Amino acid sequence: MVCFTAYSDRNGYAIYFFQGELFMRIMVVGGGGREHAIIKKLKENKKVEKIYALPGNGGIAKDAECVDIQAKDIDAITAFAVENSIDYAVVAPDDPLVLGCVDRLVEKGIPCFGPDAAAAVIEGSKVFSKNLMKKYGIPTAAYEVFDDMQDALEYVKSCPLPTVIKADGLALGKGVVIAQTRNEALTAIVNAMQNKVFGDSGNQVVIEEFLEGPEVSVLSFTDGKTVVPMISSMDHKRAGDGDTGLNTGGMGTIAPNPYYTDEIAAECMEKIFLPTIEAMNREGRTFKGCLYFGLMLTKDGPKVIEYNCRFGDPETQVVLPLLESDLLEIMQAVTEERLGEVEVRFSGSSACCVILASDGYPQSYDKGFELVIPEDISDSVYVAGAKLQDGRLLTNGGRVLGVTAVASTLPEAVSCAYSLADRISFDNKYYRHDIGARALRALEA
Ligand code: AMP
Ligand code: GLY
Repeated sequence: MVCFTAYSDRNGYAIYFFQGELFMRIMVVGGGGREHAIIKKLKENKKVEKIYALPGNGGIAKDAECVDIQAKDIDAITAFAVENSIDYAVVAPDDPLVLGCVDRLVEKGIPCFGPDAAAAVIEGSKVFSKNLMKKYGIPTAAYEVFDDMQDALEYVKSCPLPTVIKADGLALGKGVVIAQTRNEALTAIVNAMQNKVFGDSGNQVVIEEFLEGPEVSVLSFTDGKTVVPMISSMDHKRAGDGDTGLNTGGMGTIAPNPYYTDEIAAECMEKIFLPTIEAMNREGRTFKGCLYFGLMLTKDGPKVIEYNCRFGDPETQVVLPLLESDLLEIMQAVTEERLGEVEVRFSGSSACCVILASDGYPQSYDKGFELVIPEDISDSVYVAGAKLQDGRLLTNGGRVLGVTAVASTLPEAVSCAYSLADRISFDNKYYRHDIGARALRALEA
């Protein structure tokens, strides 16, 4: 909404002063814990008059108006934005970004945070991102690409083990198999390429070298000219304590990541972050938005495990609570390609997010249990899977919510996050007990 202030001059005539976008109507596409964290942070800006979440969820409904439009329904999202005079849109999940949601909104004159489809391919196709890294000398695991299943099967008969099989396209975070044996490798290839368990995403596979070392997530703001890394973080992807069990969407995070020293950060900036931004520009795919670098700190230096074209989940739930600068101002600066002019400041504190899931996740689990979050801690809670029914909040997903504590040290943040987690109740509550344990060991070493 554009605002004017009216004054009267000496003769009584009105004089209007244009005050820019004073009250803004914002739309956030997505409906998980990450989107809840983004919405809570955006609300800190006084200019924000209204936030819509598409589709949001029962917990997000406390902070935004949820609209029953799914994140992949680009036509409906675009129509909603136009009909509701949206001033600014944030497209958070991978699917709509890869499907060109930002392109469509921009065509309608709606400023957006997030890359266009041409740039989102950096996450949408692992073949693209691996070839990009090879072409521009960005450190990553050695790899081969296969579009013929027999060739892939032949290759894994003699490649070193363990080996890593990746479906080319988006696969809900499940497209990566670390095969310890040849049989596991063969099965992964047949599942992706013949059984099509990831649909067309498995038409091509990348088979890559197994890397070892601590993992670091670095989310960064970039407008294609400047890249500003956010505070580093560490995800915990496996379902069980001690990194056992199946891979999940993430069971908890801590920030900052103690393995990511200033020296390593400088090396990443020089060898990975700036070269990636430059590579995308040279390919005519300028990336504007949040570029997520999934890194492994190997004995040969930091290497890229994956790029994501968006904020990470649940990394966002520890990174944004530590951001002291205004998120909306930063996002708008990215959109307007003036990121270099704004301040992006993080506090010197630490954060820990513990995910509370439904027992059985990431496989089958029950839902529909009442979720009780004490009011005094609701600011620390980022809801991922819940729905409102007759005024009650019910569990409605595998990952139900994340609860984040911020404290001056990491040990305090971890212990406080677990105290908060204890105060939230629902039947079948499941969580890992060792979020941050590896980071704490690194700090002690
Ligand atoms: P992604 O779905 O791409 O996030 O990969 C899931 C996880 O698989 C990563 O977080 C790593 O822990 C692991 N991973 C992926 N690629 C490799 C690799 N080349 N070597 C070792 N682990 C890997
Ligand atoms: N936490 C990993 C991701 O967002 O893909």
